[in-house]
Amino acid sequence: MTIVPVPRVAVIVVAAGSGTRLGGGGPKALVGLDAHTILRHALRGVFAGPLAQVVVVAPAGREGDALTDALEAAGGRRDLVTVVAGGVSRQDSVAAGLNAVWPDVEIVLVHDAARALTPPEVFERVVAAIAGGEDAVLPVLPVVDTIKRVRSRTVVTGVDRDELAAAQTPQGFRRDILETAYRVADREYTDDAALVQAAGHEVFTVAGDARSFKITTPADLERARATVAPIRPVAAPLDTPPVPPRVGVGTDVHAFGGDGTLWLAGLEWPGEPALHGHSDGDAVAHAIVDALLAAAGLGDIGTHFGVDRPEFAGAHADAFLRRTAELLGEAGWRVGNVSVQVQANRPRFAARRAEAEAVLSAALGGAPVSVSATTTDGLGFTGAGEGVAAFAVALVTAS
Ligand code: CTP
Ligand code: MG
Repeated sequence: MTIVPVPRVAVIVVAAGSGTRLGGGGPKALVGLDAHTILRHALRGVFAGPLAQVVVVAPAGREGDALTDALEAAGGRRDLVTVVAGGVSRQDSVAAGLNAVWPDVEIVLVHDAARALTPPEVFERVVAAIAGGEDAVLPVLPVVDTIKRVRSRTVVTGVDRDELAAAQTPQGFRRDILETAYRVADREYTDDAALVQAAGHEVFTVAGDARSFKITTPADLERARATVAPIRPVAAPLDTPPVPPRVGVGTDVHAFGGDGTLWLAGLEWPGEPALHGHSDGDAVAHAIVDALLAAAGLGDIGTHFGVDRPEFAGAHADAFLRRTAELLGEAGWRVGNVSVQVQANRPRFAARRAEAEAVLSAALGGAPVSVSATTTDGLGFTGAGEGVAAFAVALVTAS
């Protein structure tokens, strides 16, 4: 027979506040940090702490949402979950939670759902202190700022920082002491420790935790969201050797006989016969694209810019090269440099070579591009003036 342990501890998680200062358009505890709410995150810490009955004090009317979060966080211990509706003040909400604590419980912790990222160790420390014989315990952090007492803009005195501590939750109590203190309380206190102290009990401290900060303002919410955001893995561990650079080669040929004017090496050449092709027939640009894709191991121009990509029909070098550099970037490569040679009788490149290099380089995000041109002594299809050929070599490095 398995004996299910009965908790001696209850954690009251107060989550019934409206979150006025956050201004999230609904109850604060139900605002999302990532895929999960503030309440759900808070309960993750609670359930990872000591075995306890968990009393969630929900905004009135939203008990169902709170129960969903609580059951999810409880995993296999759904039997530990109690949900009740909260009251107008935080103190009313704690009182409502206290009414739902099981009879056998001896130690009660009260925790703000708004301290969503409180780690389980803090719950452990508080429970240990009460189990060790203290009546009331709260986690604190040292105050790091210098504190001044100020009266209408005038500094009255400095306050000795060593005597100050910032109070957090969960605050823990012997159950009978907390219940009696709540019964006799005749006004609102800033926290449960103050209420218990007013009833005549000594309150002790344990170490709090910076992660336990209370989500109060939109800036706090941003901080919490940044903390829970998944951490991007580093590109490569420090001890792996650097990825060597890679080279690729690309060639292209186009025949004269297209419509309009010639586009070659990213430039328009008025008065020159146009090349024929699916796009503008810019053999220089296409050779560069093939060289880059080959260097990065990403296939070839047909893989990425085939005839099934109508947006590239009629496109000029700029569009192809920009997209190619993007593809490389997505795969973790950066263009090192490119060298391309054109074989053609026409056009004459000498006067516009620098211009072509600047245009091609700009399209590749600034990587150097060298353009050279040659004729073939009247031989072959280029020598016969039937078309142009281009040959490119590219170097890429890991980004
Ligand atoms: N709380 C509660 N019932 C209330 C008021 C507050 O259960 N009537 C809870 C909040 O849900 C929160 C904790 O007490 O987890 C601390 O309160 P605070 O940070 O002030 O939250 P809100 O009252 O919701 O915020 P605000 O004061 O900006 O409206
Ligand atoms: Mg409040």
